[in-house]
Amino acid sequence: MEQQKRYGHFDDQHREYVITDPQTPWPWINYLGNEDFFSLISNTAGGYSFYKDAKFRRITRYRYNNVPMDNGGRYFYIKDGDSVWNPGWKPCKTPLDFYECRHGMSYTRITGRKNGVEASVLFFVPLKKWAEVQKLTLKNESNEVKTLKLFSFEEWCLWNAATDMENFQRNFSTGEVEIEGSTIYHKTEYRERRNHYAFYHVNAEIQGFDTDRETFVGLYNEFADPQAVMEGKPRNSHAHGWSPIASHYIEITLQPGESKDFVFLLGYIENEQDEKFSAPQVINKQKAHALIAELDTTEKVDKAFAELCEYWDALLNIYKVKTGNDKLDRMVNIWNQYQCMVTFNFSRSASFFESGVGRGMGFRDSNQDLVGFVHQIPPRARQRIIDIASTQFPDGGCYHQYQPLTKRGNNDIGGGFNDDPCWLIFGTVAYIKETGDFSILDEMVPFDNQPGSEVTLFEHLKISMDHVIKNLGPHMLPLIGRADWNDCLNLNCFSWDPNESFQTTENVSEGTKAESLMIAGLFVVTGKDYVALCQKLSEYSDNSEYSDEAARMQQAVDAMIEAVKKHGWDGEWYLRAYDFYGRKIGSNECEEAKIFIESQGWCTMAEIGAEEGMVAKSLDSCKKYLECEHGMVLNNPAFTKYIYEYGEISSYPEGYKENAGIFCHNNPWVIIGECIAGRGNDAWSHYAKILPSYVEEKYQTLHKVEPYVNCQMVAGKDAYKPGEGKNSWLTGTAAWMWYTVSEFILGIKPDYDGIRIDPCLPETATDYTVQRKFREADYTITIHPNGSQKGVKTITLDGKPISGTVIPYSAGKHTVEVTM
Ligand code: BGC
Ligand code: NOJ
Repeated sequence: MEQQKRYGHFDDQHREYVITDPQTPWPWINYLGNEDFFSLISNTAGGYSFYKDAKFRRITRYRYNNVPMDNGGRYFYIKDGDSVWNPGWKPCKTPLDFYECRHGMSYTRITGRKNGVEASVLFFVPLKKWAEVQKLTLKNESNEVKTLKLFSFEEWCLWNAATDMENFQRNFSTGEVEIEGSTIYHKTEYRERRNHYAFYHVNAEIQGFDTDRETFVGLYNEFADPQAVMEGKPRNSHAHGWSPIASHYIEITLQPGESKDFVFLLGYIENEQDEKFSAPQVINKQKAHALIAELDTTEKVDKAFAELCEYWDALLNIYKVKTGNDKLDRMVNIWNQYQCMVTFNFSRSASFFESGVGRGMGFRDSNQDLVGFVHQIPPRARQRIIDIASTQFPDGGCYHQYQPLTKRGNNDIGGGFNDDPCWLIFGTVAYIKETGDFSILDEMVPFDNQPGSEVTLFEHLKISMDHVIKNLGPHMLPLIGRADWNDCLNLNCFSWDPNESFQTTENVSEGTKAESLMIAGLFVVTGKDYVALCQKLSEYSDNSEYSDEAARMQQAVDAMIEAVKKHGWDGEWYLRAYDFYGRKIGSNECEEAKIFIESQGWCTMAEIGAEEGMVAKSLDSCKKYLECEHGMVLNNPAFTKYIYEYGEISSYPEGYKENAGIFCHNNPWVIIGECIAGRGNDAWSHYAKILPSYVEEKYQTLHKVEPYVNCQMVAGKDAYKPGEGKNSWLTGTAAWMWYTVSEFILGIKPDYDGIRIDPCLPETATDYTVQRKFREADYTITIHPNGSQKGVKTITLDGKPISGTVIPYSAGKHTVEVTM
């Protein structure tokens, strides 16, 4: 096997991943910002910033799929005599005497040392501020006086990241800037319809600047050798059109041992329409001045940074486990929760695999992300649910995606993904169980954002369930529509034209018989949740309408269970679907792709046919046919040819993506199935295979992408390089891994009336403690597994035995002891 080099390691005490070699196998990135203003930053300071929406309000420019990869970012050039270097190694790539990048919770610190000078930059977005701080500390560690020339660099994006990269006949004439003291303002299109601008400031006097890219870099030079830097002479250029940038030039003298801080600030401002200008053509800079004044000293910045750290302390104090297994504890306590916050913020929009241009917030994606995040800031989850539900159509169907800036459904992709409605129930139930806030169900929520169309959120949930019931196929199983969770199983697409999108082409849908077993399982799981919710509502409100509704939906759930048992079982596993012609997909009868993971996951979670042995057989089949060294593949055997009536799924080469890749997102479904069935050893072994900290230890080179977070897909056993990861960060895997470990493995489940304790563990598990804040309560829960995989024997609450497995909710501090 290929030698597995190490590029970094975890530092749990600081909640950081420490990268010690800049030449990672792929850029290893981090996210800055928690609300409104966001940045992506790689371990060499590459990346970009935006306000709310990575497509419509891009602040700095980025080039995708570049050569070299990850070119462009916020760069500091240090010219020390003839040597020019960057603290993050790139873009000059001058060999450094020392390099380190520490990715922490919403901050990144990059340190480089060269010839006795240390440059350390702390990057973060202060809470509630629309700005990225870059605090650069330069230190002379040599015995001589150092005279340095410092150049900063940012490249402005002309706001709309899509047109910025394509419409040059316009763009090259629109760019405008202003320079005032040590601040460079970017104001392209401000004179007409925009009421916003950006700025790049440093809290020091500058001895020069540049704002025109070609003048600074030189047409035949690169970021690695900008002419102004190489010659040590800024041009004081003023951009008109072409490509505006912002670069400060500062001359610095450092005595031996001396160190100096410089606070650079990349900010974003919006003005009222009638307050846009302070003089003709001159932008009103009042708000910029105010923002700068809040962050113009080391002390102010350090305070803002301390606040950010406290914010994360508080968030990560809500659920904390101590098992004694560092690899598990660090994922549960730090990185998995962190990734959940990031996916909640960005959905699938902006990463180093998602350009930020193509996709907004996914309907199903965002509902799933909620489950990983709701315990942290419930009010934001509440708002998200309402935003999502507002994009639903009156018939219960929904826009598949919406834009975060406008919150409107995305017409390019439209609707017709028939699993989408069920996810609204999944997200809402998780919110209510966490918070006890049933009032969200009374919120008035529009359809398709149309004022006047509002009904209660509860009504939205009801029509979501009805959407499934009203769209059943010949086997009384849910019609799949354009696709279900598997966006690539396009059973009504029928395309031979490479210019057609698999996602939006529906060449035939009239008369379709294509049905989904995945939606069937999802409907049963969320249907049971919906029924339980109605029962709670009837219990609390004494309103018989809710109990009638519970009974109505229970019938539909029962009917679905029967339909799956009758038409969805293949003998050893659940079928995946019926195609347009009513033929089986994911059956032993099929030539390829005889078994799929999604229906095994959802139907085992739904416990369909458990008594008849279907659940156990299905789980065994996953082990037998889907499992490999790096996790469970999505289908087996992989498709080796394109199947016209299946769509995108069979377009991928074997072992990648939806064609037998290890789609990490759905491994947890089977793991939860294992947990519900009480098979703790199997659940754990599946879980550990895709747990980043275990992969980190073994496979840094092979895995390629960041070892501190999950990726969407790891190449499966049929791929050229099994075990290679892709599409890191923005994936439902984050929330599902969290849901799996926090609720099903460690067994701490929020419920309407309290916390349910129901762990499912490997036999080798030893005693562990979970610290869980829940509403106004704070529980210290110690579990004594005693070698058992499942089944709680006794629980004491504050020393007194309780019956059942739910710790009844009451505010205050409590101690819970559980024996299994
Ligand atoms: C990908 C899917 C993705 C879909 C929508 C497909 O090409 O394989 O994972 O959900 O596009 O963007
Ligand atoms: C990625 C998408 O974001 C998600 O919604 C989808 O379910 C999976 N791909 C599987 O196709």
